[in-house]
Amino acid sequence: MKKKVLLMGASGSGKTSMRSLIFSNNPASLTSRLGATIDVEQNHVRFLGDLILNLWDCGGQDAFMDSYLSIQQATIFQHVGVMIYVFEVETRNMEKDLEYYKACLAALKRYSPNAAVFLLVHKMDLARGPKAETLARKSKELKEASGDAEVTVFGTSIYDESLYNAWSRIVHILIPNASVLSRHLAKLAAACSATEVVLFERTTFLVIATSTLPPPPSAAATDASAPSKTNGQPPTEASNEDGADSDADPHRMVPTRYERTSELIKAFKYSCARVREEFLALEMELPDFTAVLDELTRNTYVLIIVHDPTVETAALRMNIHLARPKFE
Ligand code: GTP
Repeated sequence: MKKKVLLMGASGSGKTSMRSLIFSNNPASLTSRLGATIDVEQNHVRFLGDLILNLWDCGGQDAFMDSYLSIQQATIFQHVGVMIYVFEVETRNMEKDLEYYKACLAALKRYSPNAAVFLLVHKMDLARGPKAETLARKSKELKEASGDAEVTVFGTSIYDESLYNAWSRIVHILIPNASVLSRHLAKLAAACSATEVVLFERTTFLVIATSTLPPPPSAAATDASAPSKTNGQPPTEASNEDGADSDADPHRMVPTRYERTSELIKAFKYSCARVREEFLALEMELPDFTAVLDELTRNTYVLIIVHDPTVETAALRMNIHLARPKFE
């Protein structure tokens, strides 16, 4: 199954940078070397076995934008699953950006009326004012410009986990059997007496689904990584729906623990590659909790967190092994 994803926005807004970070695992520091995208760069990314993301990175220079909106309009805007439009938080040219955005939105409505629209207020690290307020102001402006179109706004930066947060939520809506995955994950969590189970896509380490139980009170008191109400809304279907109308939520800028975990594991994988070791799995036994990260299917990794000290890691790995056929 192929899903077309349009990545659009002004030249220099950061589209190719985010693509290179998420899908090619390049570090943020290398993005300054990227040249401007000429016309459209198409990429196919295999995601979760059957799902192929057909990513169209559309160069944002005016001449290209004008062409997308005229002679190339049908080619660009048909069969789109998701349009991601990137705005620089401190752009000098918001008026022009909005004009192009509105024209793209109209073309999308015409050729792919069911496409989902995500707006990224990008380079949040460069925001001059307080981040939450800046994002709320920008979100309001973008929603007004979107008219009656339903849009979801995220604040992002390549220098923190906010980009993973946004992309995890974006790809989540493209996964056809997301609710089935979530159900299986909840069963696996129960079988392991797990406090928390997280499913990651293998190459990008984007968060696909999560299952969370409240931790035991003693663990909550001692474990800084334990689930909390304010910082840890997993990208479940329910929270996705919330996301559609809570763009002013200041927590939107706060990356969840899951995205932070993705970052750490990716950095660890990168270190393994540097010493020519392949990353396979991870086990941690700490006084407060046990964690096992292991391959679940060809395209996913699962992270299981248990606060019960009587549960052995071997048992967790056995459960992962037994659950495999359900997720294939
Ligand atoms: P076109 O290909 O011309 O459409 O541009 P683009 O949108 O693909 O921009 P590109 O990804 O090439 O990024 C332009 C510059 O922005 C690069 O120097 C990046 O390092 C920088 N950049 C990208 N994301 C961020 C970010 O989150 N924060 C900061 N400070 N800089 C960023």
